[in-house]
Amino acid sequence: MKPIKVGLLGLGTVGTGVVRIIQNHQEDLVMQTGSPIEITKILVKNAGKSRNIDVSSAQLTEDAWDIINDGEIDVIVEVMGGIEPTKTYILEALARGKHIVTANKDLMALHGQEIMAHAARKNCDVFYEASVAGGIPIIRTIREGFASDRITKIMGIVNGTTNYILTKMCQEGADYPEVLKEAQALGYAEADPTSDVEGLDAARKMAILATLGFNVEVALDDVSVQGISSISSDDITYSQRLGYELKLLGIAERDNDSISVTVQPTLIKKGHPLASVNGVFNAVYVYGEAVGETMFYGPGAGELPTATSVVADLVAVSKNTNLGVNGRRVTAPYKQKKLKTDEEVAYKNFILLHVSDEPGVLANIAQVFSQHQVSLQSVLQQPNPNNPDAEIIIITHEANQASMKKVLNEFTTLDDVRRVVSVYRVED
Ligand code: NAP
Ligand code: HSE
Repeated sequence: MKPIKVGLLGLGTVGTGVVRIIQNHQEDLVMQTGSPIEITKILVKNAGKSRNIDVSSAQLTEDAWDIINDGEIDVIVEVMGGIEPTKTYILEALARGKHIVTANKDLMALHGQEIMAHAARKNCDVFYEASVAGGIPIIRTIREGFASDRITKIMGIVNGTTNYILTKMCQEGADYPEVLKEAQALGYAEADPTSDVEGLDAARKMAILATLGFNVEVALDDVSVQGISSISSDDITYSQRLGYELKLLGIAERDNDSISVTVQPTLIKKGHPLASVNGVFNAVYVYGEAVGETMFYGPGAGELPTATSVVADLVAVSKNTNLGVNGRRVTAPYKQKKLKTDEEVAYKNFILLHVSDEPGVLANIAQVFSQHQVSLQSVLQQPNPNNPDAEIIIITHEANQASMKKVLNEFTTLDDVRRVVSVYRVED
């Protein structure tokens, strides 16, 4: 059968893995699809750079239009990242009838619906399995495996870099900047790791998962985001002492037809399956009304794990091409978006306060919670070895976020509360 010809945009961590998997697994790929996969041209920024993969210099180009205008190329695999010029390249390739496989969550979270609409008009496939949770086939699972169910909650550890950093900080007491450097060297972190550590990368992935899971067009701005850069060793110590692990969790929830999507450091009870997801591993917990609890686990970043998802998408394009059904399986979000208000979003909270160590302080603090109908589950007071203040660690019962904001605002007016050090979500 005629080979499927691929133009690869990018030969970095993921692009190298894609070439390697196609080279090493070609025989199996042909058996599955009937067509060999042939990478004919590869776009790079610097063609003279030394590469850790065997590709001929004739395949490399620094001019994207060499690939986009090549009438022989059937599929563009986009693993260069970024929004522009990447979006232009993809739209121009679709206009020329080329199918797209991408690992780019930044682009799909921001412009996914526009790209899908262009693809539908041209009967082209757009697959983006590697964009969420690297090597875990979670997009196909939610789209196809859950097609008969109604998903009400998705909780995910969907950023490998931050999970790697938090695991090292928790298990080895490692230093934050040092572990971040390691994650960069291992190819896990984004070109600008701010998007990893400030939770934006996870927010993009949660917007994609919530859109697919709830059939609602969830925009990046709909996701409330808090990163890990201000997590201290005290936060980690107290979380663990109280029986929790501290993780950067994305949580998308639906009640009736109102939804909320958040990314924030979250204390998760030891014993919950997500609490033992460590290192660069990702996991996505999906609750379906009919099926109940499910969880999907695997490497969330890195050369070969991510490339397996990219090449699996190529196999899907190839099968569709052979059957003549490209672009026919796309379901656009069909439900109207209704975001939950702060009054409707409720969860337990962990709060670490520095307060003056004097009689009556705890009672004053308790009164603020009580005034705003926030009930307390546990309170721990610790002397602080480094200064005369005391540390108070509170876990609330489930409280709506409007009330919590009033409580935290009122603390800023109390002389006895020196500092609200941290506030995190708690999931049992
Ligand atoms: P990377 O290592 O930085 O590689 C980027 C590649 O694209 C390089 O080969 C670079 O060329 C090329 N490139 C970048 N901008 C270009 C431009 N304007 N023109 C031409 N070539 C350009 O990136 P990566 O880690 O492989 O990530 C690629 C994509 O996959 C991103 O969207 C990322 O978010 C996503 N992703 C990554 C992982 C992971 O584990 N790394 C996991 C899932 C998804 P040179 O080689 O010449 O510099
Ligand atoms: N920087 C991302 C992560 C790569 O650490 O999870 C995978 O999307």
